[in-house]
Amino acid sequence: MAAAEGQWVLMATGRSPTNIAVIKYWGKRDEALILPVNDSISVTLDPDHLSATTTVAVSPSFPSDRMWLNGKEISLSGGRFQSCLREIRKRARDFEDEKKGINIKKEDWEELHVHIASYNNFPTAAGLASSAAGFACLVFTLGKIMNVKEDYGELSSIARQGSGSACRSIYGGFVKWCMGKKDDGSDSIAVQLADETHWNDLVIIIAVVSSKQKETSSTSGMRDSVETSPLLQYRAQTVVPSRVLKMEEAIKNHDFESFAKLTCADSNQFHAVCLDTSPPIFYMNDTSHRIISLVEKWNHSEGTPQVAYTFDAGPNAVLIAQNRKTAALLLQKLLYYFPPEDKDLSSYLVGDKSILGDAGL
Ligand code: ADP
Ligand code: DP6
Ligand code: CO
Repeated sequence: MAAAEGQWVLMATGRSPTNIAVIKYWGKRDEALILPVNDSISVTLDPDHLSATTTVAVSPSFPSDRMWLNGKEISLSGGRFQSCLREIRKRARDFEDEKKGINIKKEDWEELHVHIASYNNFPTAAGLASSAAGFACLVFTLGKIMNVKEDYGELSSIARQGSGSACRSIYGGFVKWCMGKKDDGSDSIAVQLADETHWNDLVIIIAVVSSKQKETSSTSGMRDSVETSPLLQYRAQTVVPSRVLKMEEAIKNHDFESFAKLTCADSNQFHAVCLDTSPPIFYMNDTSHRIISLVEKWNHSEGTPQVAYTFDAGPNAVLIAQNRKTAALLLQKLLYYFPPEDKDLSSYLVGDKSILGDAGL
C-alpha cells in the first residue's frame, strides 16, 4: 500500500471543552451503545479552564494503537475506545499530502495505527466531566486526521459511544442530548439549542472541593442506580420530560429565575437518585452541602435566585451566576465562608460559559 511506504508521521491536535449538565443524564437503556433513559441539557464551559487537548499521530511504523492520558499510558482495549476508533475508521477518506509524499487511501486507514496523547487542564475523573471533554476531543481529532467529513450530529453520536456526556461537548453554547427512540442509537444525538453568544452574561464559577478521583465512576454508579433505584424510573419517565421543555424555554428567554430553579432541583434529584441506589452512592460531601445552604439562603433572602448550583458525580460545585456583579458577590461570600486557610476548597475556576463554537482548535 502506498501509505505504508516511507517513514512519515502525520499529526493532528484538537481541543474540546467540558460541559456541565443542568438537566442530568443518569441511567442507560443500552450499555453497549450508551443510550440514555432521558434527554439531558448542558452548558459548554470555557476551554481555557476546562478542556481536553488531544494529539493523534499516525505512521506506518506504529505496530499497534496506543494512548497516553495526562502522560501515563492507558489501555485502549475497552469497548468505548474501540467503538470510537472503529466508527471513525469506517468513515475515513482518502488523504494526500504531495509535499510530504503521503498518499493514504480510504481502505489504508484500517491498517494504519494511531498513537494518541491527551491532557486535561482540570482534574480527571473527579466529577467535572473529564470523560465528556476527553471523548469529544478524541472523536474530533481522529476525525480530523482521517479526513472525516461527517456533520456534527453524526460526530456527537460517535462521541456518545465513548462517554454519554461527550456527545454534548461537540457543540458550544447550550446543548440538548435527545435520547432518541431507535434501537441502533442513530437518533440519540446532541443538538445545539443556542450558540455560545447566547446569554453571554452568565458567569460560571467552579468551587473545587476535591480534585481526587471519585470512588464510584459515573458508569458504574448509574448502572447500579438503573438496577436498584425506583426513583430513577419515576424521574426519567415523569419528571425530566416536562423539565426539559421548561428548561428550553428558560434558556430561550434568558429567564434566570426559572433556569436556576430547574438547575438546582435537577441536581438535587440526581443526588437523591444516588441515595436511593443500593448501596447508596455519596458523591457530595459536607462542603458541597454547605455550599448548597449558602446559595439557598442567599437566593431566599433576595426573594429571587441570584445563583444556580449543580453538582455532577463528585463533590465539586458548579455555580452559575446571572452576571458579573453577582459572580463577584458570590466569590466574596465563598471566600468569607470557606477561607483559604481552612482548605475546604482547593481552588476556584472562573470562566465565561463558553468561548468555543465547537470542538477543535
Ligand atoms: P468524570 O466525572 O471526570 O467525567 P468519569 O468517571 O465519567 O469521570 O470518566 C473518567 C474516565 O474518562 C477516565 O478514567 C478515562 O477513561 C476517560 N477520560 C478522561 N479524560 C480523558 C481524555 N482526555 N481522553 C480520553 N479519555 C478520557
Ligand atoms: C452526572 O457521561 O460520565 O455528569 O456515559 O458512562 O461515560 P458514561 O457516563 P458519563 O455520565 C455523566 C453523568 C453526569 C450528568 C451529565 O453529565 O449529564
Ligand atoms: Co464522565
